[in-house]
Amino acid sequence: MKAIELFSGIGGFRIACDSLGIETIWANDINAKAAAVYRAQFGSESFHEGDINHLLDTVPDHDILTGGFPCQPFSSAGKKLGIEDMRGTLFEKIVDILERKSPRYFVLENVKRLLSMDQGKHFATILDALSRVGYLVEWRVLNAIDFGLAQNRERIVIIGRKDHTPNSHLCTREDIGELTPHQIRQAADASSWKNIEDHGAKFNTWGLALHGKFFHAKINRFSERQKDVKLHEVLERHPDARFFFTEDTLERIKNSDEVNRYYSGVEILYNQKGGARMGYSIFGINGVAPTLTCTASRHYERYRVGNEYRRLTNIEYARIQGFPDHHCDTASVYDQYTLYGNAVPPALVAWALRKVIHHEGTTFQPSPGIESPAALETQMDLI
Ligand SMILES: C[S@@+](CC[C@H](N)C(=O)[O-])C[C@H]1O[C@@H](n2cnc3c(N)ncnc32)[C@H](O)[C@@H]1O
Repeated sequence: MKAIELFSGIGGFRIACDSLGIETIWANDINAKAAAVYRAQFGSESFHEGDINHLLDTVPDHDILTGGFPCQPFSSAGKKLGIEDMRGTLFEKIVDILERKSPRYFVLENVKRLLSMDQGKHFATILDALSRVGYLVEWRVLNAIDFGLAQNRERIVIIGRKDHTPNSHLCTREDIGELTPHQIRQAADASSWKNIEDHGAKFNTWGLALHGKFFHAKINRFSERQKDVKLHEVLERHPDARFFFTEDTLERIKNSDEVNRYYSGVEILYNQKGGARMGYSIFGINGVAPTLTCTASRHYERYRVGNEYRRLTNIEYARIQGFPDHHCDTASVYDQYTLYGNAVPPALVAWALRKVIHHEGTTFQPSPGIESPAALETQMDLI
């Protein structure tokens, strides 16, 4: 199968596709530093640097469209959903390509907050657009923590496919087992689904949409959960002195409240007095990291490692996001934080891509590493 990778960044989708034998034939990003990493890792042949708005005509035919699109608010606050809402946005370009090229599948990734932004209106517009260009859309919230990564990072993956019947959703029988028998019947009967424009303030963690209608439910358990990995298991043994701030942090602790609690798997030792719960915190290494982001403030978060205090290294960022240690070596250490913080953990989107491959019935040879073939055996298309 052939994929394109929109908003490719440093190639989170690319690594996942490579590991599953899916060929990436075209990729694009506007950011020069991300582009340099992408070219260094994957070659320049398939990579097109620049603004997607000017490159639409170069997109080739493909089977799977992938992309972690930037989250831009849509303009209209009106009740009616429609293409006007997303005019001029980067998401509109995705819909544009889907209409022009009609790939059989897409896999998109974004922040979980998308489900509740603007009282659900934002996601409703997305679902409406994707389902009206002929796709059965299935979304699901995933957490990096479930994929053997030492990070609490909740993301939504949105999978679409052209060839479908409403009840052929991709979540496993075990996942769906959390639903009541009534919900299971409803999920399988698209005629009972609600109009997307009658959505509530927030979309649930799993759902389906087709032709402007949707069904959703709260699924908490992740049946393919891998072994927990804690931060101390992935730390570098002898990081460079520049990552340490021991004196300075000891001073800061004087102005902090002791917490010593875990929140969503993250061990918080101290919070700055009066600060937000996650702001200016000092973390322990017995839990996982909080969501790595691309903002500079994260560089000043401290971790207590033994008797010393330091920030995470660029290599630790790579590990926590599931990238090879030296993936971003072409960038400065400072820029690497941003590039990794912006990226998608490959294992997380590999999960979604495996669903696509399974649906396609393609025989493939997974390369060792990212995905576990055992997970495939538990997959069920139909209930
Ligand atoms: C959330 S990041 C995606 C990261 C990617 N999934 C990864 O694994 O690194 C969004 C990307 O969209 C890119 N971007 C933003 N505006 C763009 C545009 N107009 N054309 C092309 N790429 C754009 C950014 O440079 C950024 O790398």
